[in-house]
Amino acid sequence: MKRIGILTGGGDCPGLNAVIRAAVRTLIRDYDLQVVGIQLGFEGLLTKAIIPLTLESIRGILPKGGTLLRTTNRGNPFEYPVPGGVSEDRSGEVVRNIRELGIDGIIAIGGDGTLKIAQRLCDLGIPMVAVPKTIDNDLAATDYTFGFQTAVAIATDAVDRLHTTAESHDRVMILEVMGRNAGWIALYAGMAGGADIILLPEIAYRPEEIVNTIRERQQEGSKFDIIVVAEGAKRQGGEEAYVDKATRRLGGIAYQVAADIQQHIDLEIRVTVLGHVQRGGSPIAFDRILASRFGKAAADLVATGKFGQMVAVRGEEIVSVAIEDAVSRPKYVDPEGQVVKAAQSLGISFGDGR
Ligand code: F6P
Repeated sequence: MKRIGILTGGGDCPGLNAVIRAAVRTLIRDYDLQVVGIQLGFEGLLTKAIIPLTLESIRGILPKGGTLLRTTNRGNPFEYPVPGGVSEDRSGEVVRNIRELGIDGIIAIGGDGTLKIAQRLCDLGIPMVAVPKTIDNDLAATDYTFGFQTAVAIATDAVDRLHTTAESHDRVMILEVMGRNAGWIALYAGMAGGADIILLPEIAYRPEEIVNTIRERQQEGSKFDIIVVAEGAKRQGGEEAYVDKATRRLGGIAYQVAADIQQHIDLEIRVTVLGHVQRGGSPIAFDRILASRFGKAAADLVATGKFGQMVAVRGEEIVSVAIEDAVSRPKYVDPEGQVVKAAQSLGISFGDGR
């Protein structure tokens, strides 16, 4: 084996560059291999867009957000979109191009979609190793994904900032955070920021319970409230809020919560939708270290021919699991779990009346 390719697929996430850097360093320094970057995810394997990755070209990227290799949510070679709304299978072209480019192994860094494509390419005989990434932290195969703690830190900072303005104006501040259908970012940032109410996809809320909590706090002398709501949260018997239902892009539930409770309370409400700020910028130290350890471990796997594996963290250990066992196994907040129970003991309401 001589030449290893690295690609990033799906949405970006703080720490991607740290993975690339660690993988390149390990492959060159420990195994004396040549490394190339495949641009724009799997799309780059259709267009043959590759760049050399050397110790010089990765210099200075450790603290940088985004991905040096660029990325896209589109371009699944098995269902490649063509004009007119249909799709075609271009995986044969990908396999051919990988051979023509002389690539002997690929490290694919991405979320659920990327892992599924990696698995299917493995089935076609392409030597793949995967690194999981998502700010949502919703993969059961790993305790943590890199990027999650950075997103939590950014969301916590937003809660802190909303606290001071809420206090000054006697207002209810509702902060909507990302996470898709998992409530990890909302739960962690809500707890770290001392929110009064946290609304999660895993615990459907009742507007009357939110109103009760606000009234109880008023009786205790509090004149403001902080609500953190996960983008995938929903009212009991209701549905998720979508910015775009066709593509299932979540967003806007905070406005629905505001509308649900405004007429029952005498405090003003303001809504903040944090959005992609949570994915941008520099990774915090925890994510830089996790991403670097993942990059090193992925390089070891690909260099020693252990294909079809994904790196993961369990406790203090970096381990590897079969990609096919990791895909489509989501991890959600346990409504009866320790973290939720701790939050409840702190007086945080989940809007369900428990
Ligand atoms: O999966 C990561 C994530 O940031 C989710 O939290 C969010 O719902 C989604 O991606 C946003 O996707 P896009 O960048 O396509 O708007």
